[in-house]
Amino acid sequence: MDNRPIGVFDSGLGGLTVVRELRKILPNENIVYFGDTGRVPYGTRSRSTITRYTMQDIAFLKSKDVKMIVVACGTASSVLTKELTSKIDIPITGVIQPAAQSAASLSQSGTIGVIGTTATIRSGAYGKAIHAINPTFRVVGKDCPLFVPLVENGMIEKDNEITSLTAKMYLKIIKDEKVDTLILGCTHYPLIYDIINEIMDYSAVLIDPGKETAHYVQSYLTANGMLNGESSETANIHFYVSDTPSGFESTAHIFLGEDISGCIEQIDIENLTQSEI
Ligand code: DGL
Repeated sequence: MDNRPIGVFDSGLGGLTVVRELRKILPNENIVYFGDTGRVPYGTRSRSTITRYTMQDIAFLKSKDVKMIVVACGTASSVLTKELTSKIDIPITGVIQPAAQSAASLSQSGTIGVIGTTATIRSGAYGKAIHAINPTFRVVGKDCPLFVPLVENGMIEKDNEITSLTAKMYLKIIKDEKVDTLILGCTHYPLIYDIINEIMDYSAVLIDPGKETAHYVQSYLTANGMLNGESSETANIHFYVSDTPSGFESTAHIFLGEDISGCIEQIDIENLTQSEI
């Protein structure tokens, strides 16, 4: 038994897709969440900048004495090499492997679509993970750089015309390729799941990496005797952001269905990771 919190981070709101599922399937667990809202988006930046941010985010969560780190960001996960993870002396998972595994097991036709940030699609990380499972699969990737700012600005309602039009533009190529399974390869995208599903004419199974990763965390903690033995009544979640909490707070409230005011704090990630860790 281990009552230390699980540490989860993303560039902003996307990691809440992992948090929502963790709350559902592991209600006893304490969670520390960091959303790097001062530096979002990550997905338009260079690999070296994304790697620097990712290692700072990990260092911050480690300073909170977490028992496991969840890189709840497709972009950050795409830069995490074996060499980098071997430097981190606590269990860590990204979102790519769990999502790739789920897609590979569900695809009937063998044509899998992946949408994500420009950096994630450029890295080819999902394709590599899928091909390691089954080299015969065809993987079609498309970057959707406007989705993250739309989500961060709260434009997530099902009937939002701007987000729907944007989705129509991005998803055309994916539809034309007749994928039967589509990985929402950026954790922000499940926040607009309904829009994507509608634009796809419900023709593909959508894979939510947040959900798949939460299930991986559950099996990892269970197998290693690391679940929290205390009751869900005492389980708490604390949020840290690197910019003003207001926008994050209102969208998180809608998405999680929980009032998070009072458990959200602003930090200076650059200075903290330089001087205190
Ligand atoms: N949620 C992040 C991801 O999964 C968004 C990246 C960004 O900040 O551009 O890729």
